[in-house]
Amino acid sequence: MTETIVSGFRPTGKLHLGHLHGTLTNWVRLQESYRCFFFVADWHALTTGNVTAATIRESTEEMVIDWLSVGLDPAKSVIFRQSDVKEHAELHLIFSMITPTPWLIRNPTVKEQARELGFIQSDDEAEVTKINYGLLGYPVLQTADILMYKAQRVPVGVDQVPHIEISREIARRFNNMYREIFPEPQPLLTEIPKIPGIDGRKMSKSYGNAVILSEPPADVDAKLSRMATDPRRARRRDPGEPADCPAFNLHRLYCTAEEIEFVSKGCRTADIGCLDCKKVMIRHVLEDLEKFREKRLYWEQHRDEVRDVLVEGGHKARAAAVETMIEVRDVVGV
Ligand code: TRP
Ligand code: SF4
Repeated sequence: MTETIVSGFRPTGKLHLGHLHGTLTNWVRLQESYRCFFFVADWHALTTGNVTAATIRESTEEMVIDWLSVGLDPAKSVIFRQSDVKEHAELHLIFSMITPTPWLIRNPTVKEQARELGFIQSDDEAEVTKINYGLLGYPVLQTADILMYKAQRVPVGVDQVPHIEISREIARRFNNMYREIFPEPQPLLTEIPKIPGIDGRKMSKSYGNAVILSEPPADVDAKLSRMATDPRRARRRDPGEPADCPAFNLHRLYCTAEEIEFVSKGCRTADIGCLDCKKVMIRHVLEDLEKFREKRLYWEQHRDEVRDVLVEGGHKARAAAVETMIEVRDVVGV
């Protein structure tokens, strides 16, 4: 039988190159061979606080437009908004009844997030008790998202592995206490290419070093032209090493074998300058984004269709969720 996949993304607005190569390309591939549910985790967005209603609403739409423009296909994948399927909240509540707090308190991903957001100062236990109930329960809600569709696989990054581990523990405990209803989901970790931001650090909107998929070609060109390179090439005549060059990660992804060969040699012998080298890569990136931009323009001009995708996806997701909840309520007795 075809395995089921569930994955979600908090509404963060317009997506960047890191999201494209880290997540989206993978999702687009997976929809060919799995039963896929991809959703906007808008309830999860509330766990991190101070986000306005307008931001959530706009970010949701912009993000789904990006998904559709890179090739997520509503005919192949169920694309929906978490809060449109209230059953997720109900299942979260039921799971919360069988989740020991220590499982949550030791979760490193939640603690790191809470630290980054300034909710806590350190990892000691007294500090951790200051975390909001909702944020502490983040992995429990995530478990409801996954198990609702009885997913065997969850395509996520390594930072999410502790969450999936909690999902497995909750599934196991529920099955033992009641009846074998849920599979124990496994993370689906795919080799993801490293895409640093233009300053060489991890690409992130909050660092201001991201290349947004939908930004104007001239801006993409300008950003990539000043992207960090091997620091050894401070002067044009200094030779460099592509393996130590942040920009070269993009060459690896976008350039032909001949181009890679040409620029690698030119870098090591200082026969070419960094800007010439980057131009070879930038041309491909712009070409690729141009195709994306065309599709995006279509969806921007048909926003009612985007909303229809979510409405229809919501119906499909809900139909599956209702089935699961019938079983769950039956064994729990509510
Ligand atoms: N925690 C995920 C993230 O921050 C988002 C998410 C919510 C998710 N529910 C999920 C991912 C269920 C996979 C499956 O990126
Ligand atoms: Fe990087 Fe190319 Fe410059 Fe070498 S020549 S440091 S690979 S940008």
